[in-house]
Amino acid sequence: MFAFYNTEFKPPSRVRIFDTTLRDGEQTPGVALNIEQKVLIAKQLNKLGVDIIEAGFPAATKGEKEAVKVIKKLGLNSKICGLARCKKEDIDTAIDCDVDIVHIFIPTSDIQIKYTIKKSKEEILNIISEMVSYVKEHGVKCLFSAMDATRTDIEFLINVFKVAEESKADIINIPDTVGIASPEKMFNIVKLIRENVKIPIDVHCHNDLGLAVANSVASVLAGADGVQVTINGLGERAGNASLEQVVMILHSLYNIKTNIRTEYLYETSKLVERLTGIKVMPNYPIVGDNAFSHESGIHTHGVVQKPETFEPGIVKPEMIGHKRRIIAGKHSGIHGLEKLLKEMGYELTKEQVQKVVDRVKELGDKGKKVTEADLQAIVEDLIGGLEDKRFVELEELAVMTGNKVIPTASVKIKFKDRTLIGSDTGVGPVDAAIKAIRRVIKEVEDIKLVEYRLEAISGGSDALASVTVILEDQRGIKSIGRAVREDIVMASVEAMIQGINRIFLIRERIK
Ligand code: KIV
Ligand code: ZN
Repeated sequence: MFAFYNTEFKPPSRVRIFDTTLRDGEQTPGVALNIEQKVLIAKQLNKLGVDIIEAGFPAATKGEKEAVKVIKKLGLNSKICGLARCKKEDIDTAIDCDVDIVHIFIPTSDIQIKYTIKKSKEEILNIISEMVSYVKEHGVKCLFSAMDATRTDIEFLINVFKVAEESKADIINIPDTVGIASPEKMFNIVKLIRENVKIPIDVHCHNDLGLAVANSVASVLAGADGVQVTINGLGERAGNASLEQVVMILHSLYNIKTNIRTEYLYETSKLVERLTGIKVMPNYPIVGDNAFSHESGIHTHGVVQKPETFEPGIVKPEMIGHKRRIIAGKHSGIHGLEKLLKEMGYELTKEQVQKVVDRVKELGDKGKKVTEADLQAIVEDLIGGLEDKRFVELEELAVMTGNKVIPTASVKIKFKDRTLIGSDTGVGPVDAAIKAIRRVIKEVEDIKLVEYRLEAISGGSDALASVTVILEDQRGIKSIGRAVREDIVMASVEAMIQGINRIFLIRERIK
């Protein structure tokens, strides 16, 4: 029977994190990042504490080579790696980018040898020896991958890695290229390779059967000292192992550390989601929007008393920069909604909260998703709105936009007895106006725009625009602002001002 722990082997106390979001992650169908976007992601991965960033495949396109060069020039703490086939021209292109590590790969499985590379096994061993040596002669570190390792004849795979080691490769990589290994199989392959070579071992697991994370963890328990992963599990087909999940499992279940600053995981996931356009499923572990959200009455009741009642506890939202949320819906209970309403600034009696619960359940039964804005409307309908006390007033607004001008907004705002003036630019007039307001208000409080929703109420070019914003201050107090106008910029600005006033009102109430 398979034993999940290699009893003679002690797992490393620290595992190397090789992030391939910018290479395998970019191979996600439909994703193409420009240089600026790649630079933003590389800087974020560096902030996150990734040991090695695979910045791209320099021989693939001119833009790819340029991106790898630019990323290397940033002088990040993370080491920069470039991918190359076992061909001198690919390796030269990678070296030309001044990378710290060249990652070379060659297929080794029978099926790949027969249909793709079409060379004998002996020829493959010679190429490996020649190409690893070629990289090393240039004074650059070499990472060698046996592509499709998990479908490779095991005796041949051992030879492949021995040749790479003899040729002075710095790290060898065992890819589960088509994601067909089980955790047991991955464990056994890694264990066997570990017994035959001394140099560091990476694993690179694909998620075709949903096992990439489990296979990566099993590999570490068998002797791998590095994992190749991506943010949000992006990658070819069903993707690669998710960095967030592998890291949190190693840290929390096995007490195996990495250099990852986990508090930046959520913001990294969000950045990659925004730049790649690939949405993270709400129920995705660790960084999904619902990972720490609770709706059902039984759960929210428990969580309000003690979060560990219905959360793992060993992984807390604040560890990864995420937030716990109580959601209003058809399964809501009185305790959860009471807490949520308090956070929104409403102090209701038990009877009033019960009425809100009843109304929310009614809407839920009709199949309607209850947003925070809906909840606010329900409460205001029931008890009247928050008093309209004004801490902040818009005195002046000027917006410049058009062809060949960067949209710019200037605002003058009165905050109590102070006058705040400032301006900002944006991708359009609405963005510029919202940024200008946030910038001037920042002198008093940093207020984040959590959500912005725009709906046209009537047809035609003079349609009424309804804008809803959800704002959040540094203490986590949330408010909703809403305005309806014919002018989208003005509707957005008024919604922002209303939301900001409400934050200050709620703060005053719960002081
Ligand atoms: O999946 C794979 O085999 C790869 C190699 C280039 C390592 O991405
Ligand atoms: Zn891959």
